[in-house]
Parts: sequence; structure tokens; C-alpha cells
Amino acid sequence: MAKPVIGFSRLSKNEKISWLAENYLQNDAGAVKVLKQYWNEDEKLQKLHDEFIENTVTNFYLPLGLAPNFLINGSYHTLPMVIEESSVVAAASKAAKFWSERGGFKAEILGTQKIGQVHFLFTGNIEKLKAFFSRIKPLFHEAVQHITQNMEKRGGGILNIELKDKTSEMEHYYQLFVTFDTRDSMGANFINSCLEKFAEVLAEEASKEDTFSAEEKNLKIIMSILSNYVPECLVRAEVSCKVEELTENTEMTGEEFAEKFIQAVKIAEIEPYRAVTHNKGLMNGVDAVVLATGNDFRAVEAGVHAYASRTGKYRSLSHAEIVDGTFKFWTELPLALGTVGGLTGLHPLVKLALDILQKPSAQELMKITAVAGLAQNFAALRSLVTTGIQQGHMKMHLMNILNQYKATDEEKKIMIEFFTHHTITHSSVVEQLEKLRS
Ligand code: MEV
Repeated sequence: MAKPVIGFSRLSKNEKISWLAENYLQNDAGAVKVLKQYWNEDEKLQKLHDEFIENTVTNFYLPLGLAPNFLINGSYHTLPMVIEESSVVAAASKAAKFWSERGGFKAEILGTQKIGQVHFLFTGNIEKLKAFFSRIKPLFHEAVQHITQNMEKRGGGILNIELKDKTSEMEHYYQLFVTFDTRDSMGANFINSCLEKFAEVLAEEASKEDTFSAEEKNLKIIMSILSNYVPECLVRAEVSCKVEELTENTEMTGEEFAEKFIQAVKIAEIEPYRAVTHNKGLMNGVDAVVLATGNDFRAVEAGVHAYASRTGKYRSLSHAEIVDGTFKFWTELPLALGTVGGLTGLHPLVKLALDILQKPSAQELMKITAVAGLAQNFAALRSLVTTGIQQGHMKMHLMNILNQYKATDEEKKIMIEFFTHHTITHSSVVEQLEKLRS
């Protein structure tokens, strides 16, 4: 039974691993070897990674793949994608090629506003609070001038500070509801620093406000934090073509395919069980680019799914229709992304991913990312309404099993040929490999 540990963070990396091996891995030398196998020989590079988080013992690799041929607003892009799931990069590349032959993807920014809130309790007269807020509003701006200066030079900063009365939902609860433009940075630190200053100003000014009673002076700050719900930081990506151009590689006519595809999207618009999986497929593309570019995928995930529920019901993030013989497929996604700050200047592979994307602005990255999502969603639906997804997945599954059993290239060739005409299951592959080897 493992014992609790005191002062773990102060142990060296080797000491942490020894502690781990002793307490959780039965001193297994093999396990320790695996952990150390992933250390980078370049000590400086390893130190950089060690210092991203706390208590680091090793690196956790994920593959970085490339999806070429993305024609977006008339220019070609190759998308760096970090993801562990097989088939995603292949599907993205296939969808990119398909749409590059049909005019490519169109993407546009619908908004760039980010949001932060100071949540506080005020017990007293709301009219007095409103008058007080109007009077002290300039002080908020003054208090953060040292933080906003640079952002303002880049054209961003604080857009608006609003007082919100939330007392109908919780007794005495109000907010400062603040909107920001953080330009090319994701802006979490900038927003949170501003909000914490606003909170200080609010509490301090309230405490000495002449018009307030003692109770009103005791305005209580609960917390100050950005919101990862960014419905006004929105990007739209779209593809369209004549219905009859949709035929390639399907046994259906363009009309049949379009109709079935649109029905599949409609199902995701009305049926939450399907919508979640539909959106998961779209997020396969989004997350892979978000990760490759060092952005916060948890923030993106939380915000996107909240957006998918904005009508009160969880729905599809993409939509499709036919208008006058033209098939249209599009998505609108709230994406708070950055191309400066955070990991972007620190992680060598993130820098490289941004170089591959030709050093995009945050707005350009929003467009590219939304396109990756739409492409992935298109690819998944296309498989689902035609061949089904298992065909492609099982091919990858076959490779995974063959690799697991250390099949040689020659064995792989024979097995792939055999399983073109036979059903792939784990046991059938193992059985066939054993036959081949004997
Ligand atoms: C698998 O990662 C994603 C799909 O399930 C998406 C979908 O069903 O639309 C194939």
C-alpha cells in the first residue's frame, strides 16, 4: 500500500521516479526504463519541457501529422495535426483534396470579443450601486493602464465594462461583465490580470463610498476570471458546390448523396445523442490543430460545446442545405485562439507548426481551425452515409494488430491482401498471422 508523500515537488526528477517505482511499480526496472526512454538527449530541450508543468518525470509523445491541400480563401495550406486517433489525418487530407477540386473552403471571422467577469455580492440599493458604478468606471480603465498599454498599441484592449444584475438568479449577486479584444494572443493572463485589478478597485471604492450604508460598503468580491464561453469570438467555415459535383468515389448520384448527407446533419441538429458524436468528429479536426499550435484545447472544447447548447438543447455544430442546386455545408465555431504568448514562443514544435501555417494571425488561425473541423466532419459523414466508417478504421486496426505482433513488411503485405476479402477482427488477424508463420 502506497504511503502519502511530503515534499514531493522538492525531489529531483530521478528521486521522483525512484519514489514512483518503489510505491506504485514494484521497483520494476522495465517501467523506469520506459519513463527514461522518453527523455530528450538534448538537456536544454528536456529542461524546457520539464518546466512547462510541475513534477515532470518524462515526456508524453503524441504524433504530429500533416494534412496537405487545404485550399482556404484561395490559398493553399498544410495543416499540422496532433492527434492519437488513426484515420483522422488521412480523412482530413482526403476532404481537403476533395474540396480543393470544388473551389476550396471559405472562412470568415464573425467576431473577436472575449469575455471576463468579476463576480461579487452587494447587499443594498441597486440604484445606488448603478450610480456608484457609473462614477467609478473611469477608475477601472486607469487602474489597468500599465497592463493594457501594449495591447492598445496593437489595436486591442478593453472594449466595455458593464454592471450586470444577477439577483433574480442568486441573492445579492452582481457582475462586472467585461469584453476584451486580445488581438493575436489568447489573452487569458491579460484578461485575468485586468479583472483582478477591477475587483480591487471595486471593493476599495465601495468601502469608502459616502452614499453607501455600512452593509453596502461591505461589497464582497467572490472571484474574477475570464469566461471560456466566447460566442462573440466566432468564425464561420463553409464549402459549397453544385450537387452533381458531389459524386466522386460514391456509388450514389450527387443528389442521393447530398440528400442523405443533409438528413444525417439534420439528425444531429435534432438528436443530442447523435449530435455529441457528430460534434466529436468535427472536434477531431479542431483539437488536432489547436494542440499542434499550442492552444488550450480544454478551453476550446468547453466553449464549443456550450455554444452547441445555446438554444437550450445540444445540437450539431454544422449545418447543410441545398439552395438552387448548390450544396452548402458550414459551421460556426467560437474559438479563442492565440498565435503569440503562451506555448507559442516556447515549444519548438508549436513554433514550427505556426511556421508551417505561415505565421498566421489569431484570426487566420481561427479560420484554419474551423476549416479543419468542417473537413473532418465532412469526411466522417461522407463515410457514414456511404461505406460506413469501419472499413477505413478496420484497415488501421489491422495495421495496429500487425505492429503489435511485430509483423515484417512481407507479412504485412500478405495479410493486407488477405484481409481485403475477409472480415477483420483481433482474433481472425492473430489466427491468420499464426497460420502464415507456421
Ligand atoms: C470518430 O472519432 C468520429 C466519428 O464517430 C464522427 C461521427 O460519427 O460523425 C466517426
